[in-house]
Amino acid sequence: MTSTRQGAPSSCRHDEVDAFDAIVRGRRSVRAYRDDPVPPQLVREILDLAARAPSNSNVQPWHTYVLAGARRRALTEHVLRYYDTFGRAEREFDYQPDPAAWEPPFKERRERFGEGLYGRALGLRLEDATERERYHRRNYDFFSAPVGMIVTTARNPRASALIDVGAYIQTLLLSARSRGLATCAQASFLDFHPAVREHLAIPADRMIVCGISLGYEDRAHPIAVNATDREPLDQQVTFVR
Ligand SMILES: Cc1cc2nc3c(=O)[nH]c(=O)nc-3n(C[C@H](O)[C@H](O)[C@H](O)COP(=O)(O)O)c2cc1C
Repeated sequence: MTSTRQGAPSSCRHDEVDAFDAIVRGRRSVRAYRDDPVPPQLVREILDLAARAPSNSNVQPWHTYVLAGARRRALTEHVLRYYDTFGRAEREFDYQPDPAAWEPPFKERRERFGEGLYGRALGLRLEDATERERYHRRNYDFFSAPVGMIVTTARNPRASALIDVGAYIQTLLLSARSRGLATCAQASFLDFHPAVREHLAIPADRMIVCGISLGYEDRAHPIAVNATDREPLDQQVTFVR
């Protein structure tokens, strides 16, 4: 683990730096959960902290739907019914382009991610689209997490609401991690946005941004080994001299 401690100014408490680094580096997308329910007060705390995210002129364009237990399962059933009846819906907006639209180097990174998740972690045959699709459906069951969320933002002709909600989502994921909870952001819900919108009566002036699974990780599941890498710093950053 790379530590930023050396560079931290003396006014920074090293234990705070270490705790923050551990939360950021310890967060990963978790796709297998235990049954244990999440106390509602804990869910409230996480959402309250998430709203400390910055937003352009403090407009706070996010609104999140939280579902647990039977309400969570009812959304899953509704989405899967839509999936089986109509297939994927046309995208409402394009923040996550069609996989085929990615160009190098993003295309290769996406493929590397798929090989790690489907191949190494799950042991699926990558060329078997049926197996992959069967696994993909687990997205709509929030990977069995006890809590599912649907994050929405203001429908805005500019991109600013999406930038703001991105900061909100990351704050939510990190606040969950700081409390020992696991998460997975899920744009997959966009493929069935009409079902999600109808089920939750989401008003037309809001866009569905993603789902989020929330719960306690099932560390015994084979997928628990899945880890993603990152490009070296100097390939993502230009230090202008
Ligand atoms: C906006 C967004 C949408 C995502 N959608 C999905 C999804 O639909 N299903 C899924 O399994 N993972 C999804 N992910 C998780 C990414 O695959 C994951 O963040 C990435 O591979 C990096 O891995 P890490 O989160 O474990 O660090 C999404 C992540 C983000 C930020």
